[in-house]
Amino acid sequence: MLIRTRRRSEANPSEITPREVYQRRRDFLRGGLALGAGLVLPAAGQGSAALEYTPGSFSTDEKPTPYEDVTTYNNFFELGTGKADPARNAHLLTTEPWTVVVDGACSNPGRYALEDFLRPWELEERIYRLRCVEGWSMVIPWVGFELNRVLRKAEPDGSARYVAFESVLDPDNLPGQRRPVLEWPYTEGLRLDEAKHPLTLLAVGLYGDALPNQNGAPLRLVVPWKYGFKSIKSIVRIRFTEVEPTTAWNLAQPNEYGFYSNVNPDVPHPRWSQRTERRIGELRRRRTLMFNGYGDEVAHLYEGMDLKRYF
Ligand code: MTE
Repeated sequence: MLIRTRRRSEANPSEITPREVYQRRRDFLRGGLALGAGLVLPAAGQGSAALEYTPGSFSTDEKPTPYEDVTTYNNFFELGTGKADPARNAHLLTTEPWTVVVDGACSNPGRYALEDFLRPWELEERIYRLRCVEGWSMVIPWVGFELNRVLRKAEPDGSARYVAFESVLDPDNLPGQRRPVLEWPYTEGLRLDEAKHPLTLLAVGLYGDALPNQNGAPLRLVVPWKYGFKSIKSIVRIRFTEVEPTTAWNLAQPNEYGFYSNVNPDVPHPRWSQRTERRIGELRRRRTLMFNGYGDEVAHLYEGMDLKRYF
């Protein structure tokens, strides 16, 4: 077990999220963890211990993107379409109480509180690359656990072939949802084998602390070999389906955003190339890698598929 402390150079999340919102979330996560794991963590305000986690597998050794960039350059259309909007409007997202419905084709449907997800399992840090379809990328130290743990608990039926995800719907408070930018709530989906893959993470934190609202608090998906928009934020529902679920971006522009959305330098977006990307904080562009560099782990999932057709 490792308790990470914040480096001085990293921005304090309380500078971005109003202090009381951030502090409540952090206390809550600590409480849940302490109860579940029998751990005694320092009380709020004592030292700077954050989430408790173990270093996980699959991490890249590339340099993480600075905390400041990870938390102020975001896509979270519920909080606005500008890159700075989500951090500015982060306080409008209410994350307590938070429940997640797990339903559809499974033997163990239910409504789970966030603590139910956190208690039984240790959190891991996974440093993953995130490649946005817009042509920029980051390296983010996530804290979370494999989605497959939730799937196993739910026991999908033999008929389940996909997993559908839904984000929070709260147009009274989320300004973006009062505009028809996308079909709300934001939805995403994975094939069941993609969802079960050990790289697929449910994140509850980054840089060793609870997720800031603008990054999808309190629970968001991270699928590192797919374009960033597949990593749905602020999840309230996980549903097993027999047929391919609709997704927000596919509904909005089906010729531009396919269901699979695997990072693929050989399949251009209809309006721009995907051959290169700019790592946030760097000037030069770098070559985009097939499956965002996770090919050894995931290429077998797509054997025999025409990835130009199933883009
Ligand atoms: N999830 C929801 N609910 N709403 C969104 O607008 N944007 C997606 C994805 N998840 C989005 C979302 C896009 S386009 C990207 S690139 C990533 O979140 C960005 O995640 P980050 O802000 O943590 O980097």
